[in-house]
Amino acid sequence: MSTLSRTAKAYPNIALIKYWGKRDEAMMLPMTGSLSLTLNVHPTTTTVTVDSALTADRFTLNGVAMDAAGTRKVSAFLDIVRQMAGSKHFANVVSHNDGPTAAGLASSASGFAALAAAAAHAYGLQLTERNLSRLARRGSGSASRSVFGGLAIWHAGTDDASSYAEPISAGKLNLAMVMAVIDAGQKSISSREAMQRTVQTSPFYAAWVEQNQKDLVAMQQAIAAADFTRMGELTESNALRMHATMLGAVPPVRYMAAATMHVLDEVQAMRQQGLPAYATMDAGPNVKVLCQAQDAPAVADRLNALFAQGVVKGHVVLAHAGQGVHIC
Ligand code: PMV
Repeated sequence: MSTLSRTAKAYPNIALIKYWGKRDEAMMLPMTGSLSLTLNVHPTTTTVTVDSALTADRFTLNGVAMDAAGTRKVSAFLDIVRQMAGSKHFANVVSHNDGPTAAGLASSASGFAALAAAAAHAYGLQLTERNLSRLARRGSGSASRSVFGGLAIWHAGTDDASSYAEPISAGKLNLAMVMAVIDAGQKSISSREAMQRTVQTSPFYAAWVEQNQKDLVAMQQAIAAADFTRMGELTESNALRMHATMLGAVPPVRYMAAATMHVLDEVQAMRQQGLPAYATMDAGPNVKVLCQAQDAPAVADRLNALFAQGVVKGHVVLAHAGQGVHIC
């Protein structure tokens, strides 16, 4: 019997220019590139132990042993790693999410980035960061970006080799993300299924792809120019457009809730009153507010005050730029 154990820690990332839709489901190749900020909250810590005595993979999430159905995604991912490493051994995977799972708070990004790094090391693969990003992509597209800290761009690419993320310098920008967590429950429909439905049925989808490519170029220019206002405008309009393309799907995919709209109104009010803040939302009702670090406490105060009124229930989590995936 032989065992080899490695632990990795990764943080979620929030896209400023979104990824929504695949052109190759098996290889997880996206329709467009995307760009995100890796955060310093809600990490996932994962230990992979390759054990020659095991007869199947095992997966424990937040202290709960998963059944066969709950282990399937992890096991399919380990199959890819085993094939790369030329190994037939199963593994015991123990993972802990500091944040809520599958609530549109990017737990799949931190989850698969941590699993990719821990599994690659446990199976003895020596991967460059680029190849680790490609591997993480196979688990969850957005995980390709959590391999890197701070800002990262995921190039759509044309095949497995060219679809990877890489870091982008934030220059003098000191970004923060204030999260309005209005519903930490699990999402009603997975992003995987919702994307597929949008690609197949939304008449707005082609326009989304075309505009997203333009937004990605504009965002890189805004970052290079350290133009926060432009970054914020692009972030908010890109997110709303992603949700608009989903609303066009048959049947419609709607992640935004009434509480989402209350928070969006509040963010708009902040801007009108001179506080530079811009909203983005993912596959869930929660709102993440992009701002500069010096404004983050004021943004958090405003959201806390909104929640204190009691019309909208929720809590605030303040995040800054975080690190890329690493072995602990
Ligand atoms: O990679 P997934 O399945 O977690 O999809 C992520 C989709 C969004 O979070 C909505 C957008 C993004 O680019 O992260």
